[in-house]
Amino acid sequence: MRQTIVAGNWKMNASKEAVNTLVMGILSGMADVKSKVIVCAPFPYLSQAEALATHSQLHIGAQDINVNASGAFTGEVSADMIKDFGVEHVIVGHSERRSLYGETDGVVAEKVQVALDNGLTPLFCIGELLEERESGNTEAVVSRQINAVIDRVGIEAFKNIIVAYEPVWAIGTGVTATPQQAQDTHAFIRSLLASHDSDIAQSTPILYGGSMNPANAEELIGCEDIDGGLIGGASLKPDDFLRICKAG
Ligand code: PGA
Repeated sequence: MRQTIVAGNWKMNASKEAVNTLVMGILSGMADVKSKVIVCAPFPYLSQAEALATHSQLHIGAQDINVNASGAFTGEVSADMIKDFGVEHVIVGHSERRSLYGETDGVVAEKVQVALDNGLTPLFCIGELLEERESGNTEAVVSRQINAVIDRVGIEAFKNIIVAYEPVWAIGTGVTATPQQAQDTHAFIRSLLASHDSDIAQSTPILYGGSMNPANAEELIGCEDIDGGLIGGASLKPDDFLRICKAG
C-alpha cells in the first residue's frame, strides 16, 4: 500500500507573517490527517518554516537546488545548505523551472542525482505542454523526461524518488485534468517504471499536480495510480490545503 502524499508548492509567495499563518494554520488541523504532508517554501523561509514545524508531522521541502556543492555561483543554493535547515525534500524539474529557466531533461536528471547523493528526496516533476497533449505526444514526452532520470540514476534510485505528474496546461490555469486523463497517464508512468522493475513501480509514489483543489482532490486521489498531489495555488490557503490533505 502506498501512503498518500500531499505536497504544497508555495512558489515565490511568502512573507514572514504569511509563513507563520500558513504553517500554524496547517498544524492546527493536522491531527486527523493520515497523508504525509510536505510544504515547499522559498529559500529565505525554510528556517522559519522548519522551526515552526519542529516535532510535528509536517515536513518542509525546498523548491530547487543547484547541482554544485559550493563555490562561485552567485544567487544559487546548494543541497548542503537546505539540509542545514533540516529539509528532507526538494522539488526538481518543475515545469516553471524547465520553461522559464531553461532546465533541460539533462539538468533535471543531474539535480535528481545531486538531491539523492545528499540524502534528499526529490519531488521529480514531469508533464506535457498543451500542444504535446493535443498532438498525441503525452506518453512520448513523459517517457523522455523519466528515461533521462533512469539513465542517470538507475531504476533502483526510484526507491527514494517521488514522481509528480503535472500536465503543464493544468498548472495554475484552473483547468484540471479529468480523473480519467490523469489516471491514464499515471498508469502509463507506472508501466514505464515496471518495464525496468515491477516492485519499484508498485512502490513509487506518483502525485498529480495542476489545479488540484478541495473540490476535485478526492476523486483524483481516489484513482488507482494517483498517490497524492502537488498543490500550488490551493496550498496558500490553510483550510483548502488541509481539505486536500484529508482527501487522501
Ligand atoms: P497549481 O500548481 O496547483 O496552482 O496548478 C501546481 C504546481 O505548479 O505544482
